[in-house]
Amino acid sequence: MPNEVMSFDGIDPIGRVMSVDTMRVFIHIDDHELLKRVMVGNLIAIQGATGHQFLIAIVERITRLPADSTSVDEGTDDETSPQPEEIQDTLRGVLVGTYRTKEGTAGPSFKRGADSCPQIDQACYLIGSANLTAFMGTLSQDVSKEKALRLGSFTIDATASAVADGDRFFQRHAAILGSTGSGKSYTVAAILERANTLNHPNIILLDMHGEYISLARGKKDGYAEYFKIAGPGDLSKPKDNSIFLPYWLLNREEMLSMLLDRSDDNAPNQAMRFTSLVFEKKRESLEKQNLPDILASFTVDSPVPYNLDTLLNALREDDQAMVTGSTGRDKQGIWHGKLTRFIGRLEAKIKDRRYGFLFQPPADALAYDWLPGMAVTFLSTSDEKRSGIKVVDFSEVPADVLPTVVSVFARVLYDVQFWMNSESRTPVCLVCDEAHLYLPLRSDADAPTKRALDTFERIAKEGRKYGFALLVVSQRPSDVSKTILSQCNNFIALRLTNEQDQSAVRSVMPDSMAGIADILPLLDIGEAIVLGDSILLPSRIKLDKPKAEPISLTKRFWLEWAEKASNSNAIKVAVENLRRQNRGSEPKG
Ligand SMILES: Nc1ncnc2c1ncn2[C@@H]1O[C@H](COP(=O)(O)OP(=O)(O)OP(=O)(O)O)[C@@H](O)[C@H]1O
Ligand SMILES: [Mg+2]
Repeated sequence: MPNEVMSFDGIDPIGRVMSVDTMRVFIHIDDHELLKRVMVGNLIAIQGATGHQFLIAIVERITRLPADSTSVDEGTDDETSPQPEEIQDTLRGVLVGTYRTKEGTAGPSFKRGADSCPQIDQACYLIGSANLTAFMGTLSQDVSKEKALRLGSFTIDATASAVADGDRFFQRHAAILGSTGSGKSYTVAAILERANTLNHPNIILLDMHGEYISLARGKKDGYAEYFKIAGPGDLSKPKDNSIFLPYWLLNREEMLSMLLDRSDDNAPNQAMRFTSLVFEKKRESLEKQNLPDILASFTVDSPVPYNLDTLLNALREDDQAMVTGSTGRDKQGIWHGKLTRFIGRLEAKIKDRRYGFLFQPPADALAYDWLPGMAVTFLSTSDEKRSGIKVVDFSEVPADVLPTVVSVFARVLYDVQFWMNSESRTPVCLVCDEAHLYLPLRSDADAPTKRALDTFERIAKEGRKYGFALLVVSQRPSDVSKTILSQCNNFIALRLTNEQDQSAVRSVMPDSMAGIADILPLLDIGEAIVLGDSILLPSRIKLDKPKAEPISLTKRFWLEWAEKASNSNAIKVAVENLRRQNRGSEPKG
């Protein structure tokens, strides 16, 4: 169907160009009545150099000033309202693109960036009704059908579909930012649902509150594979979907960030001895399995299973070793007494059931061929048997170990993707919900969190080349690592009330869009400003709701206080759950 073309024949201009700077245009308004119909966020077409070219601007500010302020003073305080000639109306707009009514022999087109500067005195038109529909139609036709990722509808024209270029949206990382309850989780679920209509999607969602369990296969409208990091209650009888991340997956830095106390005088000795013993144990394990190929080139960071008990014993021996000195008398070995505290910390971690997913894995997770199975589970796209959309529930992981767990999980998958033959690689997206919890500002991070930041900052910087994207979701953008946010090329900014968070969002937006950020606190729930290279026009969009909704954690306080009594038994069960660190049955949606 050919696209409708915007036409301003027979339409009165709203004003004319008064002044221009690189990205902004100031418009003098002739028609004071028409001005009342203009709102911030409306679109203006400015006649371009040729008859079929228009520059498009978004209204940022509307001002009415006395034309000559000296004439309106106390001396003229009679009741009459100002006469039209006594006021001066101006609009300030930010230039966003160029529209052509025809492109050669083809129909209308829109492209980002102004082809030329608007000329002084050129006519400016408000894009309304039929022209708006025609313009919005042009925007969505520019995204081919296969690439189209529908996000919702435009606030200024609810009949027009707001579609992003799905390739570009994921190619160079994206972020969904907004205050609590603004609709981020719903937006994530809506995007997953769209991805699920493709044949082979691959998205891994890190779910911090167990709110996406409603998307799991088997639930109403559910489609995703559902996994849960093994909590203390899952250690004795792990379920099929319990995930363990055995200690041998951790690289040297991750292990040391957890075990080493840098303030200990013996820290360098402990790090050195531990590292060399890990290497030795990995070597022994490879020798036992007769893998000369790997033996020839593995490093201390290679994910090779080894026996932690024998490593612990070796550390203990070193810590107590006595050697024969040159005089023939026994003296303390070089490690004597230097490893005691390190051993104590390691033993404490091994016993701590909260770390069970690391240090108390089931026997099969200690086998050499466990890792390929785990990688296939998470890096596979959808097929007849399994969905490529995976939800991983981290809700029972204690806060202090969360950065370690998340980062080991992400790093292992990224490393596998990194080492895959480039022709066989298929793109993966990792959705980091509640990112401020484990990807904070570097200045606020402790040692394990710094390792998590290293991992994710590496993915943010290099991921594009290996088809590994991040979708960062947070209610506190000002608390999320700046390096990671600044690598994101597409933003869905929902309502944001806090001033600091607004400036964090503003700082990652192009300068010309800073004015648009002013409406962030005024957005409705489920409404967002979408910006980035996946969408032609930075727009205010009413986002679609997903069919399978995340479990809404928004409690209706007043209504529930009016109608629903508490359940003492449930409170008692909660205390037992707290003791065994397991919620038992899943939360009800
Ligand atoms: N697109 C939408 N249209 C209408 N209502 C919505 C939309 N998205 C979300 N809501 C409503 O807002 C509520 C909160 O949404 P959601 O759980 O997605 O918030 P959130 O931003 O993820 O909050 P938090 O940061 O606390 O996780 C939902 O219960 C839902 O009723
Ligand atoms: Mg949420």
